[in-house]
Amino acid sequence: MASRFFDHKKLERNVTLLAIGAFITVAIGGIVEIAPLFYIDSTVEEVEGVRPYTPLELAGRNVYIREGCYTCHSQMVRPFRDEVERYGHYSLAAESMYDHPFQWGSKRTGPDLARVGGRYSDEWHVQHLTDPRSVVPESIMPPYAFLATREIDFEDIDGDLGALSSIGVPYDETMIENAAADFAAQVDIFGDASGLRERYGDVQIRDFDGNPAMLTEMDALIAYLQMLGTLVDFEAAAAQEEAR
Ligand code: HEC
Repeated sequence: MASRFFDHKKLERNVTLLAIGAFITVAIGGIVEIAPLFYIDSTVEEVEGVRPYTPLELAGRNVYIREGCYTCHSQMVRPFRDEVERYGHYSLAAESMYDHPFQWGSKRTGPDLARVGGRYSDEWHVQHLTDPRSVVPESIMPPYAFLATREIDFEDIDGDLGALSSIGVPYDETMIENAAADFAAQVDIFGDASGLRERYGDVQIRDFDGNPAMLTEMDALIAYLQMLGTLVDFEAAAAQEEAR
């Protein structure tokens, strides 16, 4: 039926005309979505508490990536009721804004780890990584016992911070210069951690693998796992919402 303004029949019977029409329609939709991105500085809303990883956590993250933990674990709690009830508050974009590469993933042979920080004790993690089936009998996770005996090399960690700063992670000169010192300070409860705290705020400081005699890859990995998803204080945010 020919409308008053436009002869639809003509358009629908002519493939070329229809293709041109479809292209124009899709292009308008595309421009509306894409063009604003050229005019805003960031698509990520900043959230209080989110900071770049400390050198120790970053080294742990490197171990996590090297060992392919992401092939079985995702790091993004989706905003669905079943996920939120199991894992906690859904992930915010800001929580992974300093992740290069991000670890969101969609493969969940094991549980999501975006909020695993603080859920278990360090001892549990040591035990679990050493022999998963000793704490979760039905687990199919491979053991990573060797991490506890592999001394971690952190002399070059400043290079990692420098590389990340070149792609926009706000590591400043002093953070990069003090990277190795900050690394050591985070596992030494008797040391002077004032510099570390000044640069990164209220970070967790302790010997993570239960073996103070040696700085291992296990220390770094557990430091990383224990801070995952803990930077944003959702309880304080909820209380503020209620008070309004
Ligand atoms: C072959 C798949 C697989 C790989 C690879 C793997 N995991 Fe797992 N992981 C699992 C499964 C399955 C579970 C659930 C059973 C359990 O707790 O052991 C799990 C559980 C966990 C948990 C407990 C999570 C929770 O909320 O209970 C942590 C932490 C964890 N894995 C860390 C790691 C780390 C770190 C690595 C890399 C060093 C890793 N996993 C590699 C399969 C895997």
